[in-house]
Amino acid sequence: MANNKTGFTSSFGVIMAAAGSAVGLGNIWRFPYICGQYGGAACLFVYLLFVFLIGMVLLMTEFVIGRRSGFSPEKAFPALCPKRPAWKLVGLYGMFTCFLILSIYLVISGWTLGYFWESVTGTLSSIANDGFADHFEAFVASPWKPVVFLVVFLAFTLLVILGGVQKGIEKVSKLLMPILLVLVLLLCVRSLTLPGASKGLDYLFHPNFALLNWEGILAILGQALFSLSVGMGAMIVYGSYIPRDSNILKTATWITVCDVSIAVLAGIAIFPAVFAAGQDPAGGPGLVYQVLPVVFNSMGTVGQIFAILFFLLLSLAALTSAISLLETLTAWLADRGMKRNVAAVLVSVAEAALGVFVAYSFNGGLLSHITPGGMNLFDWVDKLTGAYLPPIGALLTVIFFGWVMKKEDIYDELSNHGVLKVSWFKVFYHILVRFVAPAALLVSLVAGILT
Ligand code: PHE
Repeated sequence: MANNKTGFTSSFGVIMAAAGSAVGLGNIWRFPYICGQYGGAACLFVYLLFVFLIGMVLLMTEFVIGRRSGFSPEKAFPALCPKRPAWKLVGLYGMFTCFLILSIYLVISGWTLGYFWESVTGTLSSIANDGFADHFEAFVASPWKPVVFLVVFLAFTLLVILGGVQKGIEKVSKLLMPILLVLVLLLCVRSLTLPGASKGLDYLFHPNFALLNWEGILAILGQALFSLSVGMGAMIVYGSYIPRDSNILKTATWITVCDVSIAVLAGIAIFPAVFAAGQDPAGGPGLVYQVLPVVFNSMGTVGQIFAILFFLLLSLAALTSAISLLETLTAWLADRGMKRNVAAVLVSVAEAALGVFVAYSFNGGLLSHITPGGMNLFDWVDKLTGAYLPPIGALLTVIFFGWVMKKEDIYDELSNHGVLKVSWFKVFYHILVRFVAPAALLVSLVAGILT
């Protein structure tokens, strides 16, 4: 590391922390409903293509930028190309994106924690099947519930960051990620053994390309990037904590495989259950809060246990991602000279404030009358952070990497200073980084925005 920061202790620690960042609401909350909107397996197919061709390339790109420079994004870009300091703007753009993402993340995590609580106390299982839509609407419009749970969730996140990179982030990720895998597998088994489960699998694995349009392609691209936490500098920060002797290709491959597997497993856990209970798979953002409780209710008493497990799973997945977002913003301010803990608290306070605004923007909520362009604040932040901001950030990052940064530096970093054989370097650099990734990003962005 350029500046003796504490980093992760091992490659395993890197993989757990970065997979923790990647696996989050994006996989379990957003991926299934995007799949539902854009043709099930057709969406999955495009998603996999984007994840491996663009997402993983960006993950490696950000890791190299982070580890090579030893800095968070605002300083990392100029450090690698001192002649063009204006590239720091890409770093700042990333910080802006992370700031927005964390605000909406806290809101959804707050709901999730709230639903976890209600499933533990039995409130959720006492609601009749046709009452969940109303219950969700009342929950998000309540003046205090979303805010209280948001603050509790944020407090957990802050606590981990105050614990530090090794004793906070790495330790918690190593503990939570395996638990998460077990939980999601348990839910898959239950879902697959429900009567009529095969309909859900059909839906997820039989492509319907008619539902896929350019808007969908951009949404899926945004989702692929969002899901790997790339395009906003978060992985530059984790990159700056990667030990010198870790193999970046291997690490990135593990993280990508974890991320994709959990998204697909979440689909397997959710869709068969949704079909078995006769619910609508295209339920949109409310899918896991309005549709899944019906599914759990229809399972009888074990349903309550599965509800608890599911909302626990979602809360934990959200926690390790929120940790990475808060860490990114904290590291950025710390690199600017602020004390780490002061920075973490300051960012948390600012996020809580923005989060409350976003939380109050729902039907019946205190700020629900603010609807520029016909969308409320939440939908704006969701659209921006989900579909638009990450692809733009990713495009600028990969252009910097392929066309501005020195090729020798990249080679040196990927080969661990000549220790590792990187026979794939030419394909990676000359084809994927310089042409395929930027072209695909540009085309999807332009076509998605124009249509
Ligand atoms: N990857 C996370 C998810 O899929 C979101 C995230 C984005 C986390 C950026 C950190 C940084 O939910």
